[in-house]
Amino acid sequence: MYANLKETLAYAKERGIAVGAFNAHCLEMVPAMLHAAKETNLPIIIQTTAGTADYVGYDVFVAVVKTLAEQLPVPVTLHLDHATDFAKIKQAVDAGYSSVMFDGSTLPIAENIEKTLEVSAYAHPRNVSVEAELGIIGGAEDGVMIDSTQVSFTQPEEVSQFLQHVTVDALALSIGTTHGQYKSKANLQFDLLETIANNHARPLVLHGGTGVKDEDIQKCVTRGIVKINVGTELLIAWTRTAKHQFAKADLTDSLRNHLIPCNEQIKQVIKAKMAVFALEKASV
Ligand code: 13P
Repeated sequence: MYANLKETLAYAKERGIAVGAFNAHCLEMVPAMLHAAKETNLPIIIQTTAGTADYVGYDVFVAVVKTLAEQLPVPVTLHLDHATDFAKIKQAVDAGYSSVMFDGSTLPIAENIEKTLEVSAYAHPRNVSVEAELGIIGGAEDGVMIDSTQVSFTQPEEVSQFLQHVTVDALALSIGTTHGQYKSKANLQFDLLETIANNHARPLVLHGGTGVKDEDIQKCVTRGIVKINVGTELLIAWTRTAKHQFAKADLTDSLRNHLIPCNEQIKQVIKAKMAVFALEKASV
């Protein structure tokens, strides 16, 4: 079923699990992602950046995700990831995305509040959920690099101040993960997460899921994280397989012969992640 983020996260919270939010970089990846949800019977969030939505078409993503979601008994959300431009957010809402993120994390908090309020005022009456972000997460996201000197962890006082003014459906935190594939990427601040989760009953989001150890992910889930973003790991799995496939391709081969293995790879990665996020094979 097609659902907004609020509904999908409520479904997850009721079951004591977290939902995976997986970045699609092209339309080709989407059916494989939904097959992972079908085969695990777990909810899923498909997310795109504005750049990918511009490339494929906002309405095209909506049509494909909605059609496939209606065939599943679990909630499926289509989410706009890390948007900073109100025009793009409006485009996603108008096209039928069921959730949007306004990323005002690098703005002064007053401006982050003001702009998130604007986004909520547009999205909420249209039944579209809103994710906000506090604290600055390092690494590269859709070509934009935040280096380690700019990183700042989410401050509990900032969360209180923010939530006094804004109602959001999910809040992304900076607690030690990094966007992108890094060997020593996660030095997770579990105490900070616990403090924020204990003070505020808001659904919390972990960005930069690639490369975080399964046991650390599960510690985050048991401490209040309900949405976990994974992008780079899928991109690597898809591209690595594509390189292998196309290196041996005959120019007249049907493309599907080479794309099916790429999609199969990401389906397996997603299924494995979903099992960890659902606290199956629990390691905590
Ligand atoms: P990774 O690419 O590190 O998995 O992060 C994805 C993400 O957080 C998208 O918002």
